Amino acid sequence: MTIETTGATPPPSADEVLRTTRSVRSGLDLTRPVARELVEECVTLALQAPSGSNIQNAHFVVVTDPERRRALGDVYRHGWEAYQESPFFYGKLPYDDYRQRPDEVARFRQWAQMASQQVDWLVEHIHEVPVLVVPCVAYTGVGRIYAEAGVTRDVPLPAVVQAATWGNILPAATQFRLAARARGLGSCWTVVHLFYEKDAADVLGIPYETVIQAALIPVAHAAPEEFHLAQRPPLADVLHWDAW
Ligand SMILES: Cc1cc2nc3c(=O)[nH]c(=O)nc-3n(C[C@H](O)[C@H](O)[C@H](O)COP(=O)(O)O)c2cc1C
Repeated sequence: MTIETTGATPPPSADEVLRTTRSVRSGLDLTRPVARELVEECVTLALQAPSGSNIQNAHFVVVTDPERRRALGDVYRHGWEAYQESPFFYGKLPYDDYRQRPDEVARFRQWAQMASQQVDWLVEHIHEVPVLVVPCVAYTGVGRIYAEAGVTRDVPLPAVVQAATWGNILPAATQFRLAARARGLGSCWTVVHLFYEKDAADVLGIPYETVIQAALIPVAHAAPEEFHLAQRPPLADVLHWDAW
């Protein structure tokens, strides 16, 4: 397949894509269909990501059927309720106790205020987004070696196996989002539907025992303003030369 950047003109540079790929929620255009070819280009580029032992067990379930999107949206909403009850909910994070700098606390508060509107919008409208993408990692085919080695979703996994599992899909899913952004498509990484992963597997016909879902990524055309730089910690706070 020839890879073309059929969306934005002129195509953004690699640095520009890396700098400006934001979580787009209410800025997703619910009225404009996304061409199948664009999604295929993005998945093709995603598959260029690395995989442990070159195992290549990344899969993408692309959902456009309105009934399935509605059902998946219900799973997402259900998951969102579970997230709000969980200790990980951003509204409950004890940011002020973290002994972080005041500017960091202020940054979080600012984000949390914005997020509550944006995030609520997505909870309400996710099923209306024209394309919902579920990246998965499969313990089938060559990936069966994991299952045969006793790796199941119910066993606590050592870091090396966790890293190998997620490392085989998360870079690919990120490449998908970057390729989408390069084509003028907005997206948002989400995970809360995984509180009810089995329900989502049933909706999408995913074999739950051997295929693990990694995310649910709504994708749609977005206005150029949706792509912009975000605030991040100063380099000195997070960059460790030679030792921590
Ligand atoms: C692992 C992970 C899980 C996330 N889960 C959700 C989610 O379930 N729902 C949502 O609206 N956003 C979710 N996000 C998006 C984050 O809120 C977002 O990346 C963060 O606020 C930074 O904003 P930015 O992506 O625009 O830079 C998730 C992001 C990551 C990396």
